[in-house]
Amino acid sequence: MDEIRLISLPKIQDRRGNLSFVEEWRHVPFEIKRSYWIYDVPGGTERGGHAYKENSEFIVALSGSFDVVLHDGEKEWRYSLNRSYYGLLVPKLVWRRMENFSTNSLALVLSSTAYDSDDYIYDFDDFKLITHEK
Ligand code: TYD
Repeated sequence: MDEIRLISLPKIQDRRGNLSFVEEWRHVPFEIKRSYWIYDVPGGTERGGHAYKENSEFIVALSGSFDVVLHDGEKEWRYSLNRSYYGLLVPKLVWRRMENFSTNSLALVLSSTAYDSDDYIYDFDDFKLITHEK
């Protein structure tokens, strides 16, 4: 299984403005089946609060900042994302929530699977049972 990790993306610096990019398999260790983005988040809001059985994600703070809090069933990590040239790899079967969104923040999420409501684990106790069976 892939591990939770921060992945640096290329940054092409230019007087006209910087440019970064991301490619499947090269920077993200999966085929990108879906992209979505989270924006206009009111202050104090929390997103997520679930895990996926199969879906892995790569999260980039394209603008502003937010925290991604991850739990693997035993330990919790907090990543503060505030640069558009790195992304956080969140493998499947990791509990995650996103919080502390700054004003005008924009979160880009690249996913390894198409949307499937049956892929969600919403109960933390169920999640712990599943991870402990692994
Ligand atoms: P959800 O994944 O629960 O958001 P978050 O984890 O950030 O709290 O998704 C919120 C709603 O959007 C839910 O009704 C499902 C829908 N949705 C899609 O239809 N397609 C998608 O790719 C995603 C991520 C969500």
